[in-house]
Amino acid sequence: MTKRKKRIGILTAGGDCPGLNAAIRGVGKTAIVEYGMEVIGFRAGYSGLINNDYIELKEAQLSGILTLGGTILGTSREKPYKLVGEKGEPNAKPDHIIHNYENLGLDALICIGGNGTMKTANMLSKEGLNIIGIPKTIDNDVWGTDVTFGFDSAVFIATEAIDRLHTTANSHQRVMIIEVMGHNAGWLALYAGMSGGGDIILMPELPHNIRSVCKKIEKRYEDNKAYSIVVVAEGIEHPKTGSAASYLSDAITTYTGIETRETVLGYIQRGGSPTPADRILATRYGFFAAECIAKECFGTMVAVRDTRLEAVPLDEVGGKTRLVEPTDPMIEIARKMGVSFGDEYL
Ligand code: F6P
Repeated sequence: MTKRKKRIGILTAGGDCPGLNAAIRGVGKTAIVEYGMEVIGFRAGYSGLINNDYIELKEAQLSGILTLGGTILGTSREKPYKLVGEKGEPNAKPDHIIHNYENLGLDALICIGGNGTMKTANMLSKEGLNIIGIPKTIDNDVWGTDVTFGFDSAVFIATEAIDRLHTTANSHQRVMIIEVMGHNAGWLALYAGMSGGGDIILMPELPHNIRSVCKKIEKRYEDNKAYSIVVVAEGIEHPKTGSAASYLSDAITTYTGIETRETVLGYIQRGGSPTPADRILATRYGFFAAECIAKECFGTMVAVRDTRLEAVPLDEVGGKTRLVEPTDPMIEIARKMGVSFGDEYL
């Protein structure tokens, strides 16, 4: 009797990031070439799974996508388990998902996404579906792994932006504020701030005092450093409506009288081709996810811990966020080099 080919599904959910196609390719090529599996891709994240909207992914379709930004499958922020109505009732979407999974004869489903995606993936795993998660996000805040793909590319783009702000800040002797993404986690602000030589880095994890920020800027002027670069995560707490950058710009101008300009980097930091490091990471994750299916290591998320690939239980991951600890070694390095986190004079 010939053995039935395994059939697997892939989806990409949540905000997009560079490296998604490299991960799809890593899964697909390993599954097809090494294990002879059939692969289908669901369109637009969990929406495709709910609506049975999918495409067959043959090896030919996986060629030429390694360097492409975004995701060939599309994505959405669909949350199938979100309660509906005034009373918060469950909806039928999870039932549609289970029906489609079974009807398509799937042996496993790979969910590529961030924290929200992993939470849903864990719930589907508890329903009895064979799930493997792959962590991605420019925010680098997925619990259970040391690093997500997308992060390195976003740091690269933000660093380039900061480099460009340096020259114009110097010419005009201004304070330049650059706002990067990160609602809850300051990884991107911290790493782009350090690689771009920011003077002040503000992150959601470290409450800042605006007078500390201004004192640092004034001190730099006294020390003949006529311009300053402030890198801020979008999610810092502040008293105004509007962007973190515009709040800082107003406050710095008011307290110091120094000319200040703001830049909100926005979606540019999420678009375009992945860096080599992200291509490699996404490829490793994709490969390892296919290996996990072959070994039937379900209900897990692939992760990198101390540079090694591991499969961590989705139960440990779902619903958590990996924030920057105040004791993070990078923060210690920065402080010892004179970088301010706006909390020095609290
Ligand atoms: O991908 C993560 C993230 O970039 C956050 O840092 C950001 O706040 C959010 O997505 C915004 O994305 P969207 O507007 O697509 O919901």
